[in-house]
Amino acid sequence: MSGGIAAYRSLDIIRLFREQGAVVTVAATDSALEFVTPLSFQALSGEPIHNSLSNPTTPDGMDHIHLARQADLFVIAPATANLLAKMAAGLADDLVSTLLLAFDGPVLVAPAMNTNMWNHPATRRNVTQLKADGCHFVGPAKGLLACGEEGAGRLAPVDEIVEEARTILTPKSLAGRRLLITAGPTHEALDPVRFIANSSSGKMGWSLCRAARRAGADVVLVHGPVSLPSIPGVESHPVTSAQEMFETTLSLWHQSKDRPGCDGAILTAAVGDYRPVTPQTDKIKKNPDQTEISLTLTTNPDILATLASQGAGKVVVGFAAETGDALNRGVEKMARKGCDLLVINDLLEPGAGFGTDTNRVTLLNRKGEMTPWPLLSKEEVGEQLIQTVATLIQERAK
Ligand code: CTP
Repeated sequence: MSGGIAAYRSLDIIRLFREQGAVVTVAATDSALEFVTPLSFQALSGEPIHNSLSNPTTPDGMDHIHLARQADLFVIAPATANLLAKMAAGLADDLVSTLLLAFDGPVLVAPAMNTNMWNHPATRRNVTQLKADGCHFVGPAKGLLACGEEGAGRLAPVDEIVEEARTILTPKSLAGRRLLITAGPTHEALDPVRFIANSSSGKMGWSLCRAARRAGADVVLVHGPVSLPSIPGVESHPVTSAQEMFETTLSLWHQSKDRPGCDGAILTAAVGDYRPVTPQTDKIKKNPDQTEISLTLTTNPDILATLASQGAGKVVVGFAAETGDALNRGVEKMARKGCDLLVINDLLEPGAGFGTDTNRVTLLNRKGEMTPWPLLSKEEVGEQLIQTVATLIQERAK
């Protein structure tokens, strides 16, 4: 950390990294410690903090070498204009700048400063130089700055910084691959204001998109109505009905003159199986004399079965959300859909299901082998499933 008003947000960065399993060691400049106390950094990181070259904590006095050897990634958040200038010039006059010279791994820089300082030709030059040296950058974001001015200079959102760090550290097992993901519910219109839907949140699909992007894939997402933020770097296609999802997904699956086809698909969407035969163009009025009304529904196309039947050489993965007897129903579903892998979950099990942040799944492959996974966060299920799919895609390509 270097010293700027955004330094207090580095506490959230430490917390988020630790929640995701990272070991965090803090090295802070003198000015960073004017904004946040060493004790705060220490309490949140659970590690002693490092600040001085002249007050080493290791027996041989070479903290900068030991710390540099230990780290997989160096994250500078916030990075001030002064630190960027020192890095670009290769100066090493305190612990942080010395560490940066001694470290030969990836460096992620999250700048934060006044907008004029960010736009200054000297800072522009330094950023260009650092990018050429291989540093990764995240942000700065635009908005109202602590100095009261508007413009570029805000520290990037904390979750974006952590996501970028994870992307840098993830092996690129899907580099050059295009992966299609469906997510969320569909809405089947009854009239202009009413629809049949389900309570799918889209979270599982979102986790898969992030994991696939981290693994280097070109991610194409087709999603129903959800209230989740868009994912930077993911090509998103919002749709409403199952029919729209079917048409959009199919057009993206195959190669066309404008775009390449996809190498694999993971379909997490909870697609409406039926839709009203004739949605009303006017709002359906309540008839006081009628205590019951009937709806006539017709079947929607099965996207998973269609993709699997038109996917020679490609990998197609389905999700089966069941409420009881999940494994037997999963076997039947896999045979009916013809996919390569089915991720089965029982919505009635604790920690599984729509809207939760966790999931307990069993993987069923074409050979009929079942692999139960423990209760995991949807983020972890996404990560592990992407690795499984990457291996399948690589095997197919042989
Ligand atoms: N699916 C699909 N198109 C549909 C219905 C389902 O692509 N019209 C996909 C889902 O995205 C999921 C898998 O098929 O990957 C299983 O969905 P599910 O709703 O469990 O299967 P259904 O065939 O609808 O069976 P049922 O609702 O009877 O359990």
